[in-house]
Amino acid sequence: DDRYDIAGRLLSWYDVNHRDLPWRVPPHELARGVQPDPYRVWLSEIMLQQTTVEAVKAYFRIFIERWPTVEALAAAPSDDVMKAWAGLGYYSRARNLKACAQIVARAGGQFPDTEPELRALPGIGPYTAAAIAAIAFNRPAVVVDGNIERVTTRLYSLATPLPQAKPEIREIVERLVPGERPGDFAQAMMDLGATICTPKRPRCMLCPLREDCSALANGDPALYPVRKPK
Ligand code: ADE
Repeated sequence: DDRYDIAGRLLSWYDVNHRDLPWRVPPHELARGVQPDPYRVWLSEIMLQQTTVEAVKAYFRIFIERWPTVEALAAAPSDDVMKAWAGLGYYSRARNLKACAQIVARAGGQFPDTEPELRALPGIGPYTAAAIAAIAFNRPAVVVDGNIERVTTRLYSLATPLPQAKPEIREIVERLVPGERPGDFAQAMMDLGATICTPKRPRCMLCPLREDCSALANGDPALYPVRKPK
């Protein structure tokens, strides 16, 4: 069915074309049994909430070098964390980061592995909880960011405008998430949206899902997602 075909094609593409990002465990290492470090996944997802991948890379490396574990970050003076965060903006993220690290450190240093428990932590909303559950713990969570909204609305030429389309998009993604490698699936959708299925002039000729794409069959993927006129 759809689900195997689309996820399978996307994962095969990701195996070869994934972005090398400092917080990411690449597919060949996951296949060897390397486990993602939930601390690194969490830190990257908080940084990526309102900041671009390019801007986050350097900050992520500095934080990990200085505070390699959640316990180290929990023990850091708040002023040091705020100063290291300077430039990333949205400083409530840095305050929540420190608060979350302290809670996790006091609870034994292990991040919870379910979405409801993750959502209960400071700074972790529904999107971030789903991303951590999928990427750090390989749970079949429904991860939907702006890139994934664009990919799915094009695949199904979804006429419903955003934000109204959000529940439909979630249902589509829920059907597509594979039982195997759901963490890679989420990251592959992000990478496809960032590098191929771009907002303007998507590179459809290079897309592993071009034969699945309703918007491409109908002529113009760049028409999606539809947005409600203001
Ligand atoms: N944006 C948010 N989370 C991301 C991730 N894990 N990889 C790439 N881009 C992202």
